Amino acid sequence: MIIEEFWKEPVSTIKTGKRVIYITGETDTGKTTFASFLLHSLHKECSTGFLDCDPGQTTIGPPCTAGLGIYEKGEKSLDVKKPDSVYLRFIGSTTPAGHLIQTLTGAKHLAEKAMELKTDKLIVDSSGFVKGNIAREFQYHLMDILKPDYIIEIYHTYSLKSLLLNFTQSAEIIRMKASGSVKQKNQVLRRQYREDQFNHYFKSASEVTLEYKGIGFHGRIPGIHNIPAYTDRLIALCNRNHFVITLGIMKEMDIQKKVIKILSRPFPKEKVASIHFGSIQCNQSGIHS
Ligand SMILES: Nc1ncnc2c1ncn2[C@@H]1O[C@H](COP(=O)(O)OP(=O)(O)OP(=O)(O)O)[C@@H](O)[C@H]1O
Ligand SMILES: [Mg+2]
Repeated sequence: MIIEEFWKEPVSTIKTGKRVIYITGETDTGKTTFASFLLHSLHKECSTGFLDCDPGQTTIGPPCTAGLGIYEKGEKSLDVKKPDSVYLRFIGSTTPAGHLIQTLTGAKHLAEKAMELKTDKLIVDSSGFVKGNIAREFQYHLMDILKPDYIIEIYHTYSLKSLLLNFTQSAEIIRMKASGSVKQKNQVLRRQYREDQFNHYFKSASEVTLEYKGIGFHGRIPGIHNIPAYTDRLIALCNRNHFVITLGIMKEMDIQKKVIKILSRPFPKEKVASIHFGSIQCNQSGIHS
């Protein structure tokens, strides 16, 4: 990572300043790289939460989730991908488009979790879903709900300046040019990254049978007679607070016996309160069937 000279001033302002830092900008502007640098710069003096709101190119957790990584304050060297603890919310797809409510609700509950854990700082790394009216309105609501103290816009050519005017009285707006070292990630690289993430996540998965009597269903639940739509559907088994216990890939659904067979990591069955159906059907590499 090339550390830009112009990153240093905002970082030192944030170090001694308020708590919530929201990073926004179009795709491939270096948001995640800067967010990682910020985390590294803060964690020796501050316990920090890293809220990853990008279900496509996730830093925390598998694709199709929003994740919160918690990093305790300390001298030890830090790996962004290995937080001290992780909390996940299921989005159900690799893009926030079509899943705006899930992303907003997930981000809100993850931010509340960071607050409950009393992290000194919370870094929000948002997705590059910013272009067009729907995306801009989504960004507005995500900022409104998370109430950032700082909004850092990293820009190439596309600017969110007019949108950010809505927050000039409640947050400090910091606008930075994208680093000259940013590399564009094309669709092939993005897909490859997702497949690697899925493969890693499902590496130790095996078939598990779960009785679903007494467990709630929600999300993109297929019609009851549309059995093919259940097969290979990506689902999340969630606890009573609707945080992800594990993701699973549905293999069979027996409506008579109220039993599902899924491919998943081992998990505590008694903790499952809710099954969230995602929008995609995929294999262990996340490749859509
Ligand atoms: N300062 C930097 N030094 C070296 N490489 C960088 C730097 N900033 C970004 N990159 C590289 O550019 C690519 C895109 O950066 P990054 O993933 O941080 O962008 P992003 O805005 O978060 O993208 P996305 O829209 O997918 O969320 C990555 O391969 C990253 O390693
Ligand atoms: Mg990113």
